[in-house]
Amino acid sequence: MIGIFDSGLGGLTAVKEIRRLFPNEGMIYFGDTGRVPYGTRSKEIIRKYALQDMRFLISKSKELSAVLVACGTVSSVALDALKDNFSIPIIGVVNPTAETAVKTTKNGIIGIIGTSATIKSGAYEKRITELAPAAKTVGIPCPLLVPLVENGFIAPDNEVTRLVVKQYLAPIKAAGADTLILGCTHYPIIAGIIAAEIPGVALINSGLEAAKTLAPYVKNDSKCGDVRYFVSDNPDNFSHIASIFLEEKADIVAEKVDIENY
Ligand code: DGL
Repeated sequence: MIGIFDSGLGGLTAVKEIRRLFPNEGMIYFGDTGRVPYGTRSKEIIRKYALQDMRFLISKSKELSAVLVACGTVSSVALDALKDNFSIPIIGVVNPTAETAVKTTKNGIIGIIGTSATIKSGAYEKRITELAPAAKTVGIPCPLLVPLVENGFIAPDNEVTRLVVKQYLAPIKAAGADTLILGCTHYPIIAGIIAAEIPGVALINSGLEAAKTLAPYVKNDSKCGDVRYFVSDNPDNFSHIASIFLEEKADIVAEKVDIENY
């Protein structure tokens, strides 16, 4: 069984990929919907929240074989703190995503979009430079994108989101990037809008790249579709929003957790 957490619902894009790759694997998902977004907060707060999220997941099942940090922000600024405090395998999104971006780029120019904390950490840039010292990176913080996605501004023709994306992508386009890291797990939901604003670029989905690395931990220990969902704020609207993120119509129920208790 795999544990997964995100600051909100973006990590569901990783759940969708895990279900596609490992259809029999059980999962426990926690979305910190009461405290999202993390990406505008300080490193200290993000670390505190990430440790609580981990403690919650660990408390929910003794069967966890690994935890996927389906959050670019936590993966960028708190993965070391998590690894220092827990012995279970913990997978972040940064390294697998950077590795795929380096393999994908042909002209060596890689754009990165993420939350303010992710871009400020330089985590993606650091890993890319380790793998390909000659690569050029252009990282742009996109703080408006998570609230737009969490509030449902996701239709391919949504004018507001399109304009915001256009403005954020301008420096990446100007630099001539042929590869763009979606460094936040919320962004695949608006991949169509992003792709339309930067035609021809290869989009790298961080949730998908991280999900692929779970193979050694997958035990196929559950019947298909056995995922338990937990959130830290009112779960009433969860089913509707989760069905959009997971791209399925099923009725999806989440339980509420008081995360400050962990
Ligand atoms: N999905 C989270 C990430 O990948 C969103 C961050 C936030 O809460 O600001 O970074």
